[in-house]
Amino acid sequence: MRDAQPQAIHLQDYRAPDYWLDATELEFDLHEDHTRVDSRLTFRRNAASAADAPLLLNGQGLELLSIHLNGTLLDAQDYQLDEESLTITTVPAEFVLEVSVRIDPAANTALEGLYRSGGMYCTQCEAEGFRRITYYPDRPDVMSVFTTHINADAEQYPVLLSNGNKVADTTEGGRRRVTWHDPHKKPAYLFALVAGDLLVKEDQFTTLSGRNVTLQIFVEPRNIDKTEYALDALKRSMRWDEEVYGREYDLDIFMIVAVDDFNMGAMENKGLNIFNSSCVLANPATATDTAYQRIEAIVAHEYFHNWSGNRVTCRDWFQLSLKEGFTVFRDACFSADMHSATVKRIEDANIMRTVQFAEDSGPMAHPVQPDSFIEISNFYTVTIYEKGAEVVGMLHKILGKEGFRKGTDLYFERHDGQAVTIHDFVQALQDANKVDLTLFKRWYKQAGTPVVQVESHYDATAQQLYLTLRQHCPDTPGQSNKLPMWIPVQLGLIGSNGDDLPVQVSPANAWTEASQVLHLTESEQTFVFSGLAEEPRLSLLRDFSAPVKVDFEQSDEDLLFLLQHDSDGFNRWDAGQRLMLRWIDRARAGRFRLAAAEQQALSALLADTQLDPAMVAYLLNLPSEAYIAEFSAVIDPLAIHSARRQVQQALAVALASDFAACYQRLHSTAPYQPQPAAMAARSLKNLALSYWVKSSAEGMEQARRQYQQADNMTDQMAALVALVNSGERAQAEALLEDFWQRWQHDPLVVNQWLVVQAGSAEFGTVEQVQALLQHEAFDWRNPNKVRSVLGAFANQSLVNFHRADGAGYDLLTDAVLKLNDSNPQIAARLLTPLTRWQRLVPAAGQVMKARLQRIKEHGSLSKDVYEVVSKSLI
Ligand code: BES
Ligand code: ZN
Repeated sequence: MRDAQPQAIHLQDYRAPDYWLDATELEFDLHEDHTRVDSRLTFRRNAASAADAPLLLNGQGLELLSIHLNGTLLDAQDYQLDEESLTITTVPAEFVLEVSVRIDPAANTALEGLYRSGGMYCTQCEAEGFRRITYYPDRPDVMSVFTTHINADAEQYPVLLSNGNKVADTTEGGRRRVTWHDPHKKPAYLFALVAGDLLVKEDQFTTLSGRNVTLQIFVEPRNIDKTEYALDALKRSMRWDEEVYGREYDLDIFMIVAVDDFNMGAMENKGLNIFNSSCVLANPATATDTAYQRIEAIVAHEYFHNWSGNRVTCRDWFQLSLKEGFTVFRDACFSADMHSATVKRIEDANIMRTVQFAEDSGPMAHPVQPDSFIEISNFYTVTIYEKGAEVVGMLHKILGKEGFRKGTDLYFERHDGQAVTIHDFVQALQDANKVDLTLFKRWYKQAGTPVVQVESHYDATAQQLYLTLRQHCPDTPGQSNKLPMWIPVQLGLIGSNGDDLPVQVSPANAWTEASQVLHLTESEQTFVFSGLAEEPRLSLLRDFSAPVKVDFEQSDEDLLFLLQHDSDGFNRWDAGQRLMLRWIDRARAGRFRLAAAEQQALSALLADTQLDPAMVAYLLNLPSEAYIAEFSAVIDPLAIHSARRQVQQALAVALASDFAACYQRLHSTAPYQPQPAAMAARSLKNLALSYWVKSSAEGMEQARRQYQQADNMTDQMAALVALVNSGERAQAEALLEDFWQRWQHDPLVVNQWLVVQAGSAEFGTVEQVQALLQHEAFDWRNPNKVRSVLGAFANQSLVNFHRADGAGYDLLTDAVLKLNDSNPQIAARLLTPLTRWQRLVPAAGQVMKARLQRIKEHGSLSKDVYEVVSKSLI
């Protein structure tokens, strides 16, 4: 909470620190009603700084007990203290500073710094949480070696963990003291501490060079049967990073701890990752295939940070995408290798188009490397993460697999142990490949989603195709008149038999044969394709080769052809989605009819046993309401909902026997396995079921059987969702009650139960969501519960959230104001759907805007909420 208006911080104001830190020694004394933290910091003046430079330390919510400089106790006139910092006016060139503070982890509801979750203590220091533990230069370019002593009640907290290796362990008078030493220099945001009564699941991993690493997952005792999958995923990740990037793990021990109260998904603290329990714990009875895949991806992501983030870290938080974008790219390639590359690409493009494009066209739009922020927590966004990953992916396409690897080898070698910038990353790729990436770097600086307009003309006599591409990027807050970007457009020319035709293009240097990429680098360019005996069909932006929108007229027939024949799986899906968007548009206008050829094509896909079933499931899946919204000039959520419903129902009826047959073919009685092939089969089977229940009593009956008989949560949950959304209210209520009775003891399953209701058009009404907030299963202090109810409501139950009288907006507004005081990060995140008011039909937009105004006028806003609200009201 604050009095003055919060100030923005600018990238251009970056200055290196005046003092480096060589060593950090911390002593934690954990007690039920408080914790004492004693630090011993060995500083050295930056050679570039003035001799009279003061020492600036960050600190927030700390009770200062004492400061000693080189052993001498300082008194109040030697330093200045305010709400957020401690400044020591005069210090020598080298000195040891000892600071003692008292903090209260039990009262920490923001879940930043040291806090309690369930019966244990844990930490979250990224981005600026360490300053809530002690006074410290809490910035990522200050790196030091850490030694950590933890003192706690020996019986209550048998497990005491921190980064690195355990070097001492003693017990005296009922108190245990454990010492950890981390030999790798690191910034404070990678510090972690855990204390609790935990069980451990352990394994070993031998690195390629033959070093043995102990792997441990620590959980509360009731969760010990949910650790196996994450441990296996960890081993797969370690092997993959060795094979694909040549990167080995660098400590003798790697630990993961699961905690129930966590603002994010997981955190890559050096040698001691801390995970939201929902992102690490799974067994077949309680976790869906989706959860399994998410766990595998997050375990990999946090592990991969050990190199992309920890060994080479960020100079400042404007460089956040240096570690996050790159690491998301790495985990995406890992997932693509473990499962289906095409399906992974479809999932990522879906996120880009629904969430990132929305951010890019809204008031919080920002470049992958932002110029300024008020609260860094607000910048852990889909732009930094997913668009950042897309930008790295484009570099991979431009340089090719080998060139990219040469570049990352140079990057890791050149910058090991350093805190660097996005520029350094691109420079390493450039130096290793002798290409000029200057133009490409605009992707990091310019916000907004470029639009590529396409015009093609075929000259039969010359046997040539003229392709004109124009790009423009809309204005975003603080940025107009953008420069053209380097857009890699992967494409194919398809002949009438469905085969790709050989591509000869001029100018020849605009084409990279290996990746089938055309390089668009100017605002308008015309390319000539020759040697074409027939007019080809164009398959553009294959593999979603750039995070752009494509504006290209293609007939229904062309799209249907691409859906059936494109050799690029991503574009098959994309063609299908474009067709379906047209159907939904026509349904809105009251004139949708499924053509016979379309029905046949879908029917053939459902019967195709050569295709990956997970891929078929995506091909048959209608675009979500959020996806449709992003493709609409003006968003009318109620119209979108009913039009989509109509198309869904029409498909269910037209393809009823195909869905039934597909279901029967894939339904298996073999015991559940969280393996890729089985997951893929279940995804199509359950997609078929979701349609089947909409057309027949037989489908309903089968869903009830599946719900009762399933040996796994994937099938049980899919049947529940299908039945709850099938329109039979009494049955749905009975099933939801049955599910609660079965699973009320398991918080992670209860979260899924909350999402099924809060995210449903039928069950996620304002009144029902209010009732869920009163339910014994709900807890305002637990971010997973807040997300499961309020996040699902505002992001998935769009008809109810956008109720004309504004009751849905009020519900979210009240929640944001409540959470503003207890957990500002969660409050600001929850607020996102309200910031999109300018894109909505005007009536709804104005009702929404009034709620933002109400939040803005509220007395004491956190920096987090203040930044989002004030930027949204401009
Ligand atoms: N470094 C982040 C976690 C983080 C960021 C914690 C900011 C607290 C504040 C971590 O590596 C991360 O990115 N986690 C993601 C999941 C990942 C698979 C993209 C998350 O937590 O959502
Ligand atoms: Zn990350």
